[in-house]
Amino acid sequence: MFLRDFIERHYSQLRPNTLIYEHIQNCKDIGLKDDKIKANLIGPILISASNTMGISSAFFLRNLIRYPDVRRRLQDNPALLDNDTVLLEFLRRDNHVKALSRHAHGTVKIGAFELGEGSSVCLFFPGANLDPTQWVNPLAIDFDRDLNQQNHIIFGGARHVCIGKTLAVAFLRRLGQGFIRYLPDSVHVNDAEIEMDGSWVAERIITRMPISI
Ligand code: HEM
Repeated sequence: MFLRDFIERHYSQLRPNTLIYEHIQNCKDIGLKDDKIKANLIGPILISASNTMGISSAFFLRNLIRYPDVRRRLQDNPALLDNDTVLLEFLRRDNHVKALSRHAHGTVKIGAFELGEGSSVCLFFPGANLDPTQWVNPLAIDFDRDLNQQNHIIFGGARHVCIGKTLAVAFLRRLGQGFIRYLPDSVHVNDAEIEMDGSWVAERIITRMPISI
């Protein structure tokens, strides 16, 4: 209901030269009517939100349990969670996005590299977000890191940057407030009992995480 109203309010005011505007024009070009296009805009948002937040929440919880010092620091000072950098640091350490690719539709130059039309670049997200040449002790959660638009790709970048990033950070903030309020000091997770989907390339989805409290 909320999303339907939201789409209804913004649909007729979308600005040209934006991805969403172009997407709607493409839908119209293939004969879709406004009602159908609006419904098709709601679907991906609903699916993206439940999919991404469910998976990234599990990584967030695991890190809060795995690193008691980090958890206690937040418990002593919950206002730290008001700082977006703190939440981004958890997402830098682990989140559900592992790999995406880009395909060149024409010749493209990136720095010293030239990509020919039809070639693909595969981006391995943990490779950038955990790069030891960029992050000192990359596996550690460190709230004092300088995270900025230029040095991480937690939410991607350029035109296709994640449309849900503000919502994601707000969601994790509320979730984190609950976690630190209720997780007892004795909480423990045994890494050997955690089961992952896709661990052959990178930890993709936590499918089982028995926690003892
Ligand atoms: C922890 C949470 C999230 C992370 C780490 C994340 C990360 C990402 C990344 C890396 C991309 C690719 C950007 C690119 O291609 O350069 C992306 C795209 C996208 N995300 Fe998220 N996301 C999160 C939450 C959400 C939520 C909550 C929503 C919806 C409400 C959402 C909707 C989307 C959509 C629709 C795209 C495609 C955008 C496009 O291709 O133009 N994401 N996200």
